[in-house]
Parts: sequence; C-alpha cells; structure tokens
Amino acid sequence: MPLITRRALLASAGAGFLVSASGGAYAGLIEPALMLGVTEYALTPPGWPADLPLTIAVVSDVHVCEPYVPMARVKRIVETVNALKPDLIVHLGDHEATHRFVSGRVPPQEWAAAYADLAAPLGFYTILGNHDWWHNHMSIRSALDGARLRVMENDVELIEHRGRRFWLAGLGDQLAHWLGRGGFRGEDDLAGTLARVKTDDPVLLLAHEPDIFVTVPARVSLTLCGHTHGGQVHIPGLTNPFIPSAYRDRFRYGHIVEEGRHLIVSGGIGMSGLPVRFGVPPEVLLVKLGNEPAIA
Ligand SMILES: [Fe+2]
Repeated sequence: MPLITRRALLASAGAGFLVSASGGAYAGLIEPALMLGVTEYALTPPGWPADLPLTIAVVSDVHVCEPYVPMARVKRIVETVNALKPDLIVHLGDHEATHRFVSGRVPPQEWAAAYADLAAPLGFYTILGNHDWWHNHMSIRSALDGARLRVMENDVELIEHRGRRFWLAGLGDQLAHWLGRGGFRGEDDLAGTLARVKTDDPVLLLAHEPDIFVTVPARVSLTLCGHTHGGQVHIPGLTNPFIPSAYRDRFRYGHIVEEGRHLIVSGGIGMSGLPVRFGVPPEVLLVKLGNEPAIA
C-alpha cells in the first residue's frame, strides 16, 4: 500500500479545492478582488543603525486594470497605506496589467493622480517593473512624473531622517526588453547604481525582480522586491512551476536571509498571466527597521 504523506495530502486537497466551483470563485474573485492585508516585518539588518527607526510602506505589482484592479481598488490601497502612517512609501513596479483578460485600461494619469494622495514625510518612490516596460513605460513614466512621484532607475537618493541619513537606491528593470525565445535584456545596472552611493550611510535597494539578490553585496542593508506575486497560486507542499524566477521557491515570497544579506519579497496585489490568486492574498507591507531609542 503506497504511503501518502501529510504534505502530499494537503497539496492534493488544495489543488482539488482550486478546481472546484467554490474554489474557482474564491481564486478568481474573493482573494484577488476583495482581500487586502497588511504584512508586517520588523528587523534591524546589518548596517542599519539599531537606534534609527524607519517605517516603510511597500506597495507592489498592483497591475491596475478593469475589471480586476479598478480605481476603487487603487483608492483602497491609498487609504490602507496612509492609515499605516509610514515614514516612507515605495512601489516596486508593475503598475498596470497586461494579461489578455483585461476588459478595459485605466489611464495612467488616473491611478497616478490617486497615488499623489499617498502621504509620508519622506515621500513616495517607485521603480518600473517588467510589465511596465513591455506595455506602456513611456506613458507610465510620464503619468508618475506628472503626479510628482519619483521614478528611480539606476538612481540613488540620500534621505535625511531623524537627523541621520540613508541611501535609497532604485534599480532598472532586469527583464525590460523581451528578445524572444525566453531571452531578455535588462535595464538594470547594479554596480553603476551602487557606485553613486558616496558616503558610509546605510543603503536600501528597490528592485522589481528578486533574482538580482544573488549579486547584491552586503553593503546593501535590505533589498525589497516584488514580481513573483508569491507564485500567485500557492498551495503548501506543492511546487509551483510558474514562479517567474530562475530560482523558483528560493525567492518566491517573504523575508529571506542569505549569508547575512536580507531580502523581502512582497506578494503584491494584482495579477499577471491569469486573473486568479490563491493562497497569496493581496498585501501591502509595513517594514519596520530599527527601534525607538530607549528614553533615559
Ligand atoms: Fe507583477
């Protein structure tokens, strides 16, 4: 008699639920369209001063489109982020959806104008993702510029916070140009970006795809990425072959520490490929670095 492990049982139960009518409705409507959670991470990675508290709200992979991520959803994201009262807000790219199930486009000026309501004392910074490059990057860039939202591309900024300073770096997209047959040429220049860091202050890096993490030096305290959508469909115990990373599960989701280097991968909010989500509810991240100094 074959042995069935608990892991295999869970995987097959999850897969069975997903193909059922109620599972399909959940994955196609409830989880992607109605849910929006806040996932918190609290850490003091190497190089970050323990007594310098910084809160970062992280939005990623919104993939705005009708009918799945319409303007009402964008406004809910803005309200959710503002309620967190973060010091800094970042968006990790893939602003619009490009899948074939889009029933209508939302003009970039509309969603960019909604992001102009995001409130944080240190501002709002964004990078572009692969879908932005493949579809509409000039209009997206122009809409973000028009709303005075800072687009970073192989660029850095030295930010002052509580009398201290840190560098925020934003990497160009690693899959910007599709060359066919699974080949891509990126716009990313990690060495050139980090060469612009001119002081010893700590560095935070924004990069759309997490695969860059294998080459990110320890000089960077924390790398924030999106792109994978946490696999978009995640059933514990079952390997998802569609995770868009050469490293599959390794950088699928969450807080990953390798050789003392820290990476956080957001599951994002919207969808690519198919308009379904299962087991990876849409999320905004609240990343808390450092601690409030003790009062003597
Ligand atoms: Fe995405």
